[in-house]
Amino acid sequence: MTAGTGIVITIDGPAGTGKSTAARRLAERLGFSFLDTGAMYRAIAWGCLSRGIDLTHHALVTGFAQQAQLALDEGMISLDGHNVSEAIRMPQVTLAASQVAAIEGVREQMVALQRQAACGQNMVTEGRDQGTIVFPEAPCKFFLTASPLVRAKRREAQLRSAGQIVPLEEILQQQQIRDDRDENRPIAPLKPAPDATIVDTTAITFDEVITQLEEVVRSRVPLPAATC
Ligand code: DC
Repeated sequence: MTAGTGIVITIDGPAGTGKSTAARRLAERLGFSFLDTGAMYRAIAWGCLSRGIDLTHHALVTGFAQQAQLALDEGMISLDGHNVSEAIRMPQVTLAASQVAAIEGVREQMVALQRQAACGQNMVTEGRDQGTIVFPEAPCKFFLTASPLVRAKRREAQLRSAGQIVPLEEILQQQQIRDDRDENRPIAPLKPAPDATIVDTTAITFDEVITQLEEVVRSRVPLPAATC
């Protein structure tokens, strides 16, 4: 982006495409900061669930999002002073996050916070609308894809390593519900920006994904030379 906002690299795509890992590791390689915007929607969902706020009551959820104090520091996120980094990964929060992410007022609030986070920063940001809505002028945009089965298997492994055993069939079903919500909502639906580079991660390793992304960034954006 232009002066004042630093350089923003966007990575969008559905869950299970390796976006978070790719964004975090690309940011490390470039010496940029990293923003996980899904964690923001998750934190709002977690806050609503833990306070018994009805997710179908859009005004209440928006009101909560407007006064919530979110703080993001690389991999850590806190809500109203409480570290919720682990709690927001629970399956019920995952599903609730796609509900709150479809609410216009919540999105407005999160988009404003995301732009604020980019102010004066070189940043890699990942989500669903980063290249299309939040940073349409970003000089380098990526859209990651992978087959539904591979995405579900990655999620299963991720949950297993966090001590949660969830059948693959259930993960596939929930993934389908979330994809439908994310892709078909009227506001900021999940889709690639017209100028995004599409990367299919189905059959390549994370290292290969990151190397590809880094090559594209370095060919398009003037950066200091790599130091190692
Ligand atoms: O990437 P994730 O699974 O942590 O995202 C959680 C939910 O938030 C998911 O349903 C998509 C939604 N989301 C969004 O709508 N816009 C973003 N920029 C990031 C996430």
